[in-house]
Amino acid sequence: MSVFPPTPANIAAAARVIQDGGAVVMPTETVYGLACDALDEAAVARVYEIKGRPAENPLIVHLASHDDLERVAVVDNPLVKRLADAYWPGPLTMVLKKSPRVPRITTAGLDTVAVRVPSHPVARELIRAAKRPLAAPSANVFMGLSPTRVEDLDPEIRVEVEIILDGGPCEYGLESTVVDVTGPNPVILRPGAVTRGNIQALLGRPLGEIPPAGPRRSPGLYPRHYAPRALLKLVDALGEEDSGLTFGESRHVHQVKMPRDAQAYAANMYSALKKLDTEGVEVILVERPPADADWEAVNDRLKRACD
Ligand code: TXA
Ligand code: MG
Repeated sequence: MSVFPPTPANIAAAARVIQDGGAVVMPTETVYGLACDALDEAAVARVYEIKGRPAENPLIVHLASHDDLERVAVVDNPLVKRLADAYWPGPLTMVLKKSPRVPRITTAGLDTVAVRVPSHPVARELIRAAKRPLAAPSANVFMGLSPTRVEDLDPEIRVEVEIILDGGPCEYGLESTVVDVTGPNPVILRPGAVTRGNIQALLGRPLGEIPPAGPRRSPGLYPRHYAPRALLKLVDALGEEDSGLTFGESRHVHQVKMPRDAQAYAANMYSALKKLDTEGVEVILVERPPADADWEAVNDRLKRACD
């Protein structure tokens, strides 16, 4: 199996794979990514194929530094710098006007591009060593749970990639916040560790809302997504015999005790669901987390996993 610790030599080898048009699995602070050269059409096409991802769903371009932003995007909005200064490197993705240098396949034909600067040291060193922006969707097969540990990688992904860099468990455990900054008022397309409250406090005003009708603003926001194989249902409390995620004490092997802190819950959620899935649990019941703003990203993913 091609799993390696992220030593400088292994990161250099992974960078060469990317320069040769291949794909590698890299750790980030959010979830593991399936990374390739964002400017190499054939490499990007292979990443879509490995994931079984529809061509209409664009990829996020990962940079080593904010300084590289104008290589992939046209920046004409002062909010971009404010957001980048506050949250990069980190779990925030900005949707911006795309530079013509980025191939259409990477952005699924859109004239915008999603960009982020990850904070995970291995991701940053890999991008630096590869000397190019990396397209990196979450390293799961389409619709599935994003892996937050190498042990949770789907076999379909494992067999296809040349190198898997094992950076241990991901700090945040949910995908980055995606915010569209192409209009006058930023809009959150996918909630994440950088919360609506964080961004509103920074900008000093409320954010825009996704228009309920009209074309999907983010092609990747399918109603069902981030889902285990098992059926998932939200409940008030797990019964003695039920299998799933609980805030109380675990009463048997298929009950996972979850933290009451939103951030800690998020960091453990996908691996807990993956564990129950792997153990063959058919119906996973999840005790409904609080509806507070802190829990927006967790509740968003749970809702999608239930649909
Ligand atoms: O945390 C993350 O963002 C992880 C790690 C690996 O960086 N990546 C990730 O990528 O979650 P992916 O491909 O699984 O999700 C990308 C999301 C999708 O919902 C996609 O539709 C949206 O970003 N997206 C990408 N480009 C976009 C664009 N130009 N406009 C609107 N949404 C976009
Ligand atoms: Mg994904």
